[in-house]
Amino acid sequence: MQTIQSYINENKDRFLNELIELLKIPSISADSAYKNDVLKTAEIIKTSLENAGCDHVEICETDGYPIVYGEKIINKDLPTVLVYGHYDVQPPDPLDLWNSPPFEPVIQKTELHPDGAIFARGACDDKGQMYMHVKALEYMTKNDELPCNVKFMIEGEEEVGSENLGIFVTNNREKLENDVILISDTGMIAKDVPSITTGLRGLSYVEVEVTGPNRDLHSGLYGGAVANPINVLTKMIATLHDDNNHITIPGFYDNVEHLSESERAEMAKAPFSLDSYKKALDIDAVYGEKGYTTNERNSIRPTLDVNGIWGGYIGEGAKTVIASKAYAKISMRLVPHQDWEEITELFKSHFESIAPDAVKVKVTPHHGGQGYVTPIDSIGYKAASKAYEQTFGKVPIPQRSGGSIPIVSLFEKELNSKTILMGFGLDSDAIHSPNEHFGIWNYLKGIETIPWFYKYFTELKK
Ligand code: BES
Ligand code: MN
Ligand code: MN
Repeated sequence: MQTIQSYINENKDRFLNELIELLKIPSISADSAYKNDVLKTAEIIKTSLENAGCDHVEICETDGYPIVYGEKIINKDLPTVLVYGHYDVQPPDPLDLWNSPPFEPVIQKTELHPDGAIFARGACDDKGQMYMHVKALEYMTKNDELPCNVKFMIEGEEEVGSENLGIFVTNNREKLENDVILISDTGMIAKDVPSITTGLRGLSYVEVEVTGPNRDLHSGLYGGAVANPINVLTKMIATLHDDNNHITIPGFYDNVEHLSESERAEMAKAPFSLDSYKKALDIDAVYGEKGYTTNERNSIRPTLDVNGIWGGYIGEGAKTVIASKAYAKISMRLVPHQDWEEITELFKSHFESIAPDAVKVKVTPHHGGQGYVTPIDSIGYKAASKAYEQTFGKVPIPQRSGGSIPIVSLFEKELNSKTILMGFGLDSDAIHSPNEHFGIWNYLKGIETIPWFYKYFTELKK
């Protein structure tokens, strides 16, 4: 019988070419101009699941973009793995910072990827990582190696908040019944330091609007006498952190989970070089909440960040004007036990309360989600750990990530199952940034590791 390694060796060019075709379609969920491309991508995923051996595949319509559902049920008495991924991608802007067009994939060698990496929007987040699961399924079905049942649920709205997937999950609990959920949409520490993601941060995303005078004004005639909304907004934002970079919103930290000293000591054992971190980002110093390390700041601590800020004149040359309005988009990353809707409310009332009488403030919530943590003594975690050990020759390290996949906590609530996050990307793969890429080695290693998860999970479940 063929091993997964020999199957990959024989098929790797096809595996790469199929991913490249998928990456050519700009499935940008945030921009309605790409609606047909997003829909076309769902069709391609459907065909790929059929070809990989699913018995039943359907496109499930929602009020937004469809969910591709596929399954192969071999025996009702065996465990069921539910694979989740997303086929939508982030907008590629700013385009001029890409070295090659975002939807014309190219393979290029880099320092960390001497075997080459595929450069394209969605290469790592999440088309490349999602497609590893399709190819792993293909191997298992074609070689009679699928040890249990499998269901796939691939959505097209992850990058815009997964609102319709939440409704779909709530309405289809039976169809989605499973023993474990498996996702590759996170990263690992390094190619020689495999890790399993055991936590995700929650998120609250809001937009604020500050209105001063009812029209744009001459900044000479009115300047100094009426509130400039941009001055006011930036001043308000500046007060949201104190000198220690703690967030000043009253009640913000009330439910934050505090890790014990021994848990923090355990975390500090993960290999990390501050020098390489600074070098990779071209910064002279890191910056953040006093009393916490870089790895703590970006995983177990909550944050508040301005994601965009605008208003006034930004065209060529100078225009003397006091704008009527100023805006900002603000995200808060949350940790377990912080409820995103509660935090959104706390933000709203605090932000309104610090506004001077001279302006009006409007806070509009966008989307959000709860954080997530998963224990390392579950069967799912153990199976994943053994799978990595098999293909990397090393026991993977549990690691909490700073990113968010809000739907994961909803899976736990609605489907009552734990999620195992087997990510194969690197932080330097530039997801959401220009020049996003995914190492060919990482792609193939993912395909190699996944079937072992199925094997060990089924064995341990007995
Ligand atoms: N795959 C990412 C999340 C991620 C990346 C988690 C790396 C851990 C490590 C996902 O596609 C994403 O970008 N999520 C958004 C939230 C969503 C509601 C837009 C995020 O984290 O900003
Ligand atoms: Mn993703
Ligand atoms: Mn993303």
